[in-house]
Amino acid sequence: MTGKHLNYNEVLSRIQECGKSSQHLQDFTRKIVEILYEEFEHYHWIGFYWVRGDVLELGEWKGKSATEHIKIPLGQGICGAAAAAGKTENIPDVTRDSRYLACFPSSRSEVVVPIKSSIKVIGEIDIDSDQLSAFTDEDVRFLESVAEVVASFYCTERGQ
Ligand code: SME
Repeated sequence: MTGKHLNYNEVLSRIQECGKSSQHLQDFTRKIVEILYEEFEHYHWIGFYWVRGDVLELGEWKGKSATEHIKIPLGQGICGAAAAAGKTENIPDVTRDSRYLACFPSSRSEVVVPIKSSIKVIGEIDIDSDQLSAFTDEDVRFLESVAEVVASFYCTERGQ
């Protein structure tokens, strides 16, 4: 598990700065997926999903290939479970989780972090890795902080 830069605080600061210079959520989240993909070698596919009614819809993403899971019903897959419960899912071995919806044959582990406003889950960050047990507690803490920054941007943009 070797990232090019494993300075999570530094990357979080860069993301916070990007938020200040981004006009729209799409613009901001596009920059975030670029930064995460560049900075962390164990993040092989990064995507934002947004809650639209009872479904998660794919937003900005970065990775070697596209996923067929553009829409995921809430409650289905690791993504749907994390959104329905509002809790981070850190799956060290996706082959051992019966909820897993396969996207890429190379994926071995996955982390899904909900993005929450003060009242509800509005979306999530989904990351796949080709390494087993790729995501540490530090990754989870870092990604939960990124999710908070995104939630704050989302709520400000919508005047909430
Ligand atoms: N594996 C996810 C589906 C999304 S793809 O990883 C991009 C899941 O089980 O919900």
